[in-house]
Amino acid sequence: MAPPELTETDDSVRDTADSTEAPVIETQKLCKIYEGALGGEDVKALTDLDLIVKSGEIFGYLGPNGSGKTTTIKLLLGLIFPSSGSMKILGSSRIGAPSIRKNIGYLPEGAYYPDFLRGEEVLRFYGQLYGLERHDLKRRMDNVLELVGMQHARSRLVRGYSKGMRQRIGLAQALLSDPQILILDEPTTGLDPIARKEIRDILVRLRDEGKTLFISSHELLEVEMISNRVGILYDGVLQTTGTIDELLLDRDLSVEVRGAGAEALEKFAAAGIQAEDAVDNKIVLRLPETVSIYAAMSICEAEHVEVIRIAPRRETLEELFVRVVGMAEREAREKASK
Ligand SMILES: Nc1ncnc2c1ncn2[C@@H]1O[C@H](COP(=O)(O)OP(=O)(O)OP(=O)(O)O)[C@@H](O)[C@H]1O
Ligand SMILES: [Mg+2]
Repeated sequence: MAPPELTETDDSVRDTADSTEAPVIETQKLCKIYEGALGGEDVKALTDLDLIVKSGEIFGYLGPNGSGKTTTIKLLLGLIFPSSGSMKILGSSRIGAPSIRKNIGYLPEGAYYPDFLRGEEVLRFYGQLYGLERHDLKRRMDNVLELVGMQHARSRLVRGYSKGMRQRIGLAQALLSDPQILILDEPTTGLDPIARKEIRDILVRLRDEGKTLFISSHELLEVEMISNRVGILYDGVLQTTGTIDELLLDRDLSVEVRGAGAEALEKFAAAGIQAEDAVDNKIVLRLPETVSIYAAMSICEAEHVEVIRIAPRRETLEELFVRVVGMAEREAREKASK
């Protein structure tokens, strides 16, 4: 499936980025082949990737395991080289050059820091790598430790940190040089719901302060909550990209009813209308676009079910993901069987 064309009028309310500004990240026909990686055979990790990330947005980069997310990130950082295609970051094609690198904060997937270091020693080490002066470094360390809520634990050994604390130190490390762009590879994986919410709040705050965030993730609900735009990869190919509002369909209806008994629910199910949620004696039914509202209303009337509310039902990012990846999988299977 080709990515939908974006026009200026398509830019929705959630697309807060200025469409007239040059993209912060832009790739054109970017390809990466890991040569001879699979028992001598090549692995085509990324194919013809055209990606645009705009200033001041959170871009959610999604895709199943092995679809090419980390490969894209490593290419953007200049850690690996493309097989073909081109990239621009902040308008420059000098990927990996110090002037560009210092404007990118990077949190690697499953970031690891030596256990014998204290949180602040980790930051000092990275600060020195970034070439920050002693005075600047101290100020930045205080600043980022405060931002990620780790001032209280700065002098504790990393060994004693929880996963959430490690991730916060990772985020602090990524923010140390006060970069314009943050590239975060699965920033909330393995965290509990509270720690996730806290990290999410920090990410939104950073976006609101004007930073551009590129986040790879499997946490679809989370991405839906905070992203302006998303892209879905499958097998190294970008299947779709756009704002959340552009991509999530709202063709189905949500019908909230009261007093639906087992018999009514059976009739609804037989008509293709599923109960999605139940609160007290209210039930929320999902009416697919293929089922007429009259069919639902006539069941309600026959079963003495009270209709409280009818509203458009927008699909979730998870449903979009399953739809897009499912279609790509089917296409791949059909191609393979030919
Ligand atoms: N260094 C490497 N050498 C050979 N093949 C690699 C290398 N790194 C990644 N690959 C392959 O490239 C493809 C894309 O991998 P990548 O790590 O980019 O996926 P991902 O989307 O980040 O997956 P995950 O969600 O599991 O982190 C996979 O087939 C992977 O096996
Ligand atoms: Mg990865």
